[in-house]
Amino acid sequence: PYRIAVFASGSGSNFQALLDSAQSGRLGAQIALLVSDKPQAKAVERARAAGVPVFVFAPKDYESREAYEREILGELQQAKIDLIVLAGYMRLITDVLVEPYAGRMINIHPSLLPSFPGKDAAGQAVEHGVRLSGATVHFVDGGMDTGPIIAQRAVEVTADDTAIELQLRIQEQERLLYPEVVSWFAAGRVKLEGRRVLLF
Ligand code: GAR
Repeated sequence: PYRIAVFASGSGSNFQALLDSAQSGRLGAQIALLVSDKPQAKAVERARAAGVPVFVFAPKDYESREAYEREILGELQQAKIDLIVLAGYMRLITDVLVEPYAGRMINIHPSLLPSFPGKDAAGQAVEHGVRLSGATVHFVDGGMDTGPIIAQRAVEVTADDTAIELQLRIQEQERLLYPEVVSWFAAGRVKLEGRRVLLF
């Protein structure tokens, strides 16, 4: 089967949606590993409950980003991972992982990129006063939310929205969008040519 690793730092609601979709057979992929930089993350608890192997690490135990990523790379290779799926993994990725997984690493971000990259995207959208925001799934390159875009879903922003309310409505869409996009990968329907995304 097609094997994915999910990276998560937080609550893991996207991870849970992927787990549910794998369980129902719709994902067409096996979640073979959860990687987390936060031992206390709810995502880790969800993985253990679902019997998914977990690799957790504490960044402060390493002298650099590259040092812990080399260790992650070893885990990914051992688990024969086909696709890395970042789901609320709140760290930049270096060439240690970007290069070996070029065209095989994706992220989800709670805005319509290229608007509002980085932290607190929903807060940035409310602050700016946009009428539409949403969720974006994109390939990962070395930048902050800058890689080629695969799919997007729009969410309306109301006049009285708070960042938290908007974030929750965006996450509802993320939970639908991300499993669908992963299923496209598992079916061999996505290719990256340079910075062009081809969908079949
Ligand atoms: C998601 O909304 C995801 O788009 C966002 O973190 C949240 C994680 O939620 N990611 C980023 O902001 C990355 N720049 P989850 O842990 O419940 O899946």
